[in-house]
Amino acid sequence: MKKNELIRKGLRQLPTRPIFLVSMELDGKKNIITVGMFCIFSGTPSLVGIGLKPSRYSCGLIRESREYVVNVVTEKLMKAVRICGTNSGRDSDKFNLAKLTPRKGTEVKPPHIAESPAKIECRVVDELKIGDHIWFIGEVKAVIVDENYDWKDGLLFKWVAQDGFYYRVGDQKGKY
Ligand SMILES: Cc1cc2nc3c(=O)[nH]c(=O)nc-3n(C[C@H](O)[C@H](O)[C@H](O)COP(=O)(O)O)c2cc1C
Repeated sequence: MKKNELIRKGLRQLPTRPIFLVSMELDGKKNIITVGMFCIFSGTPSLVGIGLKPSRYSCGLIRESREYVVNVVTEKLMKAVRICGTNSGRDSDKFNLAKLTPRKGTEVKPPHIAESPAKIECRVVDELKIGDHIWFIGEVKAVIVDENYDWKDGLLFKWVAQDGFYYRVGDQKGKY
């Protein structure tokens, strides 16, 4: 196996991570992209980031509009994760395609996904090209969480070889 492939295989041994639906809007065009590349960058100020490949339609939309919403997903949204991760907003309306409902944001222009139980509204403060992704660093303007949402219901995702699998947080194993 080539060195590069060995490194990629090795990195896939990391524990799994959450998956999100990120919504954005430019000149009335709404779109959604499935994103695994998410990171919390700072506590004060509250900064998060999403990593997008420059080829994504969403990348251009966020670059222009400078805003996005990170929508947490649960088991009910598994199908939508696939639909929004395999179709491009260039040639489809993913709110329609994935049967998702846009809901007006509070501090930012892009819509939330009504079916998501927790939404993070972000305004871009920095854009970093790192390797083959562009990281849009967003200052968190508001976080809207449903009353009955339990963070343990947030969906996790793992690539194993060419297949993707969804997980839920497992049992607590101790207290530090
Ligand atoms: C599980 C999963 C995770 C993904 N994570 C990312 C990601 O972090 N960054 C990215 O640029 N694309 C990611 N993608 C691919 C995009 O979601 C996909 O290319 C999408 O169709 C792009 O839509 P757009 O052209 O409307 O922007 C992921 C896809 C899947 C299925």
